[in-house]
Amino acid sequence: MQNETMANLDSRVTIHMAASLDGFIARKDGSVEWLETSDEFAGGDTMDPGFVEAFLKTIDCYVMGSRMYETALRFEAQGLGWAYGDKPTFVLTSRELPRARDTVEFYSGDLAQFVNGRLRATFRSIWFVGGGAVSADCLRLGLADEVRYSILPILIGDGIPFFDKLDRDIALHLAEVKAYKSGTVELLYEVRGHLSE
Ligand SMILES: NC(=O)c1ccc[n+]([C@@H]2O[C@H](COP(=O)([O-])OP(=O)(O)OC[C@H]3O[C@@H](n4cnc5c(N)ncnc54)[C@H](OP(=O)(O)O)[C@@H]3O)[C@@H](O)[C@H]2O)c1
Repeated sequence: MQNETMANLDSRVTIHMAASLDGFIARKDGSVEWLETSDEFAGGDTMDPGFVEAFLKTIDCYVMGSRMYETALRFEAQGLGWAYGDKPTFVLTSRELPRARDTVEFYSGDLAQFVNGRLRATFRSIWFVGGGAVSADCLRLGLADEVRYSILPILIGDGIPFFDKLDRDIALHLAEVKAYKSGTVELLYEVRGHLSE
């Protein structure tokens, strides 16, 4: 077990991100308007809103970096809503940022201690929703159990990568693949561990 604190062995840390086929989660300036793609794949599944709603209920809390949070605040200001429902949402930041709602809590400090000591002790399904800097930290520190990667039918050439540079290879196990009518492919990989361990 990492750290001295008790971790809930049933808990699961998921990194979820949507990215272009060339592996970017946003343009360099942080914009994500290209996430609205318009492909059609005849053989694909359709997202059932009832299934999505039931699935979202299984998520117990969200974790995000401050720049992702700033994007979420922008979306809300534009009337696009808050994607995290009434679930506790932990924002990693060393700055003073506006608190969008009561469910938002800020944290600054040791990420491994926070996840293994605090979040795993309280929550079962813990979702990291970006951005790239925080996803990389999560993988680098060996905190993630699985990676859900939605690949969108678009190439954008340059931008913020899904995760920043890693210092080691990480072996994965492909657990699920789904292709949707929208041309998006969703991959679920379980993290098998750092190869040098
Ligand atoms: N396509 C998608 O699915 C998707 C998903 C998520 C995000 N995005 C996009 O990705 C972009 C943001 O990604 P990013 O890689 O630039 O940034 P990010 O991962 O959202 O945020 C990184 C920042 O979080 C703060 N932070 C991280 N760990 C911390 C810790 N342990 N303690 C205290 N503060 C900590 C630091 O900022 P401070 O301390 O200075 O606050 C750090 O610079 C946005 O443009 C967003 O729209 C896209």
